Amino acid sequence: MHRVLANEQLSPNVYRLVVQAPRIAEIRRPGQFVIVHLGPGAERIPLTIADVDAAAGTISLVIQGIGKSTLDLVELVPGDVIDGIAGPLGRPTELPEHGHAVCVGGGVGTAVILPIAQALHARGVAVTSIIGGRSREWVILEDELKACGEVVTCTDDGSYGRPGFVTTALADELARGGVDEVFAVGPVPMMRAVVGLTGPAEVKTTVSLNPIMVDGTGMCGGCRVTVDGIVRYACVEGPEFDGLRVDFNELADRQSTYRPFEKAALEHREACKIGLRTGAPVDAPPVGAGAGARP
Ligand code: NAD
Ligand code: FES
Repeated sequence: MHRVLANEQLSPNVYRLVVQAPRIAEIRRPGQFVIVHLGPGAERIPLTIADVDAAAGTISLVIQGIGKSTLDLVELVPGDVIDGIAGPLGRPTELPEHGHAVCVGGGVGTAVILPIAQALHARGVAVTSIIGGRSREWVILEDELKACGEVVTCTDDGSYGRPGFVTTALADELARGGVDEVFAVGPVPMMRAVVGLTGPAEVKTTVSLNPIMVDGTGMCGGCRVTVDGIVRYACVEGPEFDGLRVDFNELADRQSTYRPFEKAALEHREACKIGLRTGAPVDAPPVGAGAGARP
């Protein structure tokens, strides 16, 4: 059992939960994730460990409330408990020893970038973070990243920082030269656009992938992705891969596979809430509401 100690809203649908998990806080390394199981009947959700406080025995999980299971999590309040948190899972980030790294975070993907930027900064690598959101209120973790180096903040609508996608700012950074490595995490179209820039510039690029995951131990095959023409299991061989070798088209296809089930589960959740208020009968929950991609 893991007690929730804090829940802070970071953007219109993104929340930071601070949860008791002393063993994970002690041994986790940047790039790793956990699988969270809220309670009986709940889906198992893979979530990046955005931050830890080893002394306090806590981990921070940044969650985008978009489907039934993630909404159940972001509605937790301090004192609530989560049944199970498995982890840390996945391979830690391979961090360079020196040089200049650019960390690109799109939307909630910025939460995955934060521990990487912190670890790079701690070992003396110069860090430039480029983060983006649809508009000002969707930008997250800007202050935390400023503690690691320069931050270029972009908004799609120009309401804050630099107008445009993170890739526009990255193109300028690459044109200036001196970039040794890029880490990019965010929506698939963003990561695909990033490697569209770093490939021709021949800059090493690491992306963190969030395919559907079920067990997180390499048994179910749900998280398979194709990298350099070879099938890889993101939960045990990733989640980070060489972005220049990832088949993003296949990843986008596989991520959309469970959308109808996710939609049905969300509609059932809403119907239950209305039923509670009005006493209206609610049908049985949909079968196979699907495992989640790492939000
Ligand atoms: P979003 O759609 O609001 O986009 C965030 C930012 O990404 C935009 O502001 C823009 O700067 C950039 N971006 C988006 N589309 C782009 C494109 N076509 N070209 C260039 N840049 C683009 O993001 P969101 O709603 O916060 O969603 C985040 C997504 O990230 C979700 O799909 C989630 O599944 C994914 N995610 C991935 C990981 C991972 O490990 N890869 C982790 C967390 C979240
Ligand atoms: Fe099952 Fe990776 S989540 S094999």
